[in-house]
Amino acid sequence: MNQEKMGKFIAELRTECGYTQKEIGNMLGITDNSVSKWERGINAPDISILTTLSEIFHVTVQELLNGERNFKKKEIDKTHHQKVLEVKNLSKSFGKRKILKNITFDIYEGDIVGLIGPNGAGKTTLIKTILSLYHMDSGSVKIGGYDIKKELEKALSQTGSIIENPDMYQNISGRKNLKITSLINDIKDKDYIEKIIRFVKLEDRIDDKVKKYSLGMKQRLGLANALIKRPKLLILDEPTNGLDPAGIKELREILKKINHEENMSILISSHILSEVENICDRILIIDEGKINSDFGIEEVKYKNISLEDEFFSKIKKEKE
Ligand SMILES: Nc1ncnc2c1ncn2[C@@H]1O[C@H](COP(=O)(O)OP(=O)(O)O)[C@@H](O)[C@H]1O
Ligand SMILES: [Mg+2]
Repeated sequence: MNQEKMGKFIAELRTECGYTQKEIGNMLGITDNSVSKWERGINAPDISILTTLSEIFHVTVQELLNGERNFKKKEIDKTHHQKVLEVKNLSKSFGKRKILKNITFDIYEGDIVGLIGPNGAGKTTLIKTILSLYHMDSGSVKIGGYDIKKELEKALSQTGSIIENPDMYQNISGRKNLKITSLINDIKDKDYIEKIIRFVKLEDRIDDKVKKYSLGMKQRLGLANALIKRPKLLILDEPTNGLDPAGIKELREILKKINHEENMSILISSHILSEVENICDRILIIDEGKINSDFGIEEVKYKNISLEDEFFSKIKKEKE
């Protein structure tokens, strides 16, 4: 512990939070003079006080002791980044059961966002409602700036998605499947199609019939199919389902590459945090139809050890 550095950090945090030395003193039941001494590096707070102080300033005890934050929150420069997806106060019921409750979040250009929550939390329902496969009760969704209630076709033209199992024709080759999709979407760029085939590492098997593909290969073909439209936003619902660890790693690498080369935003849902944490910039935790947490990955990485605990502590009950 460097007392002086810690003191400066406390002063910085106090200013950031808008408290006077006296106010902090009152909260802790000590004099403002003690607070002043910490800030000048003359004294350090007692260990017993550190926890309370960390709660007041929203930092960890370790960060207080280090005199700096261990992660830098990814600052989103809102003037330079476009919102690719805007979900506002979205609610959805099936019959009398409210499934999605007032969901609000944004995804910016180039973001990779993980939507994490236990089975039954509402991930698939949320994704299907965003894509207008289900009607919402209330709220709004804009994709690439287009409101799905007013300009559905334009909104959907900005997205590619895989929900549940990718639906491909089994008796024709992977290439023919992709050709059909490109015809439907009026895509003429043959080089791009070839690039996508290489992206998903199917170049050796693309002319085989789909029914001969392994599950991982089918998944990758589904991904290629979603990418053909060159979407601004790629939505993948539990893409790692049924993949082995090697397949998951491969998918992760492919997605990172696409995100990097095409600046495509990606929303990935999963019930397994560890499967997606290495690829996402941001994590949204959904439970019982509510987003109860939205944080940057730097924060997650910092909290590495307690991450799994934190995840489960935020989730009331797991419903397998
Ligand atoms: N078509 C439907 N009709 C009625 N209830 C549904 C329907 N689809 C999902 N649900 C219910 O909505 C809740 C959320 O389901 P879902 O969105 O599939 O969760 P997740 O994808 O997170 O596992 C569950 O309780 C599920 O039973
Ligand atoms: Mg689901």
